[in-house]
Amino acid sequence: MEQFKYYAPTQILFGKNTEAQAGQLCKARGATKVLVHFGGSSAQRSGLLDRVCQSLQAAGLGYVTLGGVVPNPRLSKVYEGIELCRREQADFILAVGGGSVIDSAKAIGYGITNPGDVWDYYSGQTPQACAPIGAVLTIAAAGSEMSNASVITNEDGWLKRGLQSPYAYCKFAILNPELTYTLPAYQTASGCTDIIIHTLERYFTRPGVKALALTDGMAEALLRNVMRNVKLALQTPADYDARAEIMWAGTLSHNDITGDRSQGDWASHQLEHELGGMFDVAHGAGLAAIWGSWARYVLKHDPSRFAQLAVNVLNVPYTFGNDEKTALEGIAAMEDFFSSIGMPTSISAMDIDLTDAQIKELAHKCSFMGRRTIGGFVTLNAADMENIYRMAK
Ligand code: NZQ
Ligand code: ZN
Repeated sequence: MEQFKYYAPTQILFGKNTEAQAGQLCKARGATKVLVHFGGSSAQRSGLLDRVCQSLQAAGLGYVTLGGVVPNPRLSKVYEGIELCRREQADFILAVGGGSVIDSAKAIGYGITNPGDVWDYYSGQTPQACAPIGAVLTIAAAGSEMSNASVITNEDGWLKRGLQSPYAYCKFAILNPELTYTLPAYQTASGCTDIIIHTLERYFTRPGVKALALTDGMAEALLRNVMRNVKLALQTPADYDARAEIMWAGTLSHNDITGDRSQGDWASHQLEHELGGMFDVAHGAGLAAIWGSWARYVLKHDPSRFAQLAVNVLNVPYTFGNDEKTALEGIAAMEDFFSSIGMPTSISAMDIDLTDAQIKELAHKCSFMGRRTIGGFVTLNAADMENIYRMAK
């Protein structure tokens, strides 16, 4: 059996003004007509959208635009995009934005290449294709620009569901750190938290999987790097070097270089997705609110792994012979770090006062109505999920 898998087919263009090459890159990937997909107003306000459209024109490509993607992107917008692509015969989707826009683009890509209702593929069916996607990234966070995943929220029941397939990798991603200067501080911090948790989800592997020391070292370096640079970016939003460090870390945090996704934990993400679906919280903030409670809940299964994180990343002194003490100090240090960048470490800190019924509903939805468990490091059932939501309350 293989020790791990690694597949990263996305072409990356990194640096200042790289968005000017969007048109040429679409053309090189066979585009004839492009759907330019974007979010609320940030890409218009900054002039990025105009520059991208100009580069498509310069490359001799036709295009149509569709904006209005919201964080925790909605299925209704995906349907609108599918309809527009079909009507306009668009054969390439260029996402200009963050994880929400890229994920919406991927869902549209599935919708125009697979039979039936696209939501069925987010409910368990296996897609056989996806239209080609390119990305001009404006926020370092979700890592969708180089991941095989997309996450969509269905307004009917407020279910947030992910879909992974090898077809959904972007053909290219344009990463210009300058495009992230305009991010609000909260989004910068939330994005960096997501980057951190993508790395931790992989760090806490399934039982029996031992990461290579090199892989651990890359993960730990990435974590230290983001924790240092987010502070610099919050102080000076136009600090190119800090933004560049964060942006590249964001992409690498979710392209499997710091660990094979399929061997990781992912419980914090599954628990957060329900919070995002039900309460529309920023994804990274929701992760910060959950992670400490998850960590304390599963700690006893392998305190030494948490102790390694504490010592190598969080500068916690090792208490000889007492991994659990070191581990607990590490979890507290991680929560202190989240607080220091303005992230919540409980659900109530996001102004959500969970009722008992809501906790049960979250656990019910997260367990797919009792049909699944979550977690690779430790398997969690619906009762465990309820316990963790209660601890994080
Ligand atoms: O809509 P606009 O006006 O552009 O504002 C956005 C949005 O409000 C704003 N923003 C983005 N770039 C900006 C900017 N504001 C000013 N200047 C800029 N340069 O930031 C807000 C958040 O954007 P969003 O795209 O939602 O952020 P993010 O990249 O964090 O994406 C979050 C979504 O990705 C999913 C999450 O669940 C969530 O739905 N994820 C996707 C993953 C994947 N496909 O692999 C993995 C992740 O774990 C995650 O689950
Ligand atoms: Zn995430």
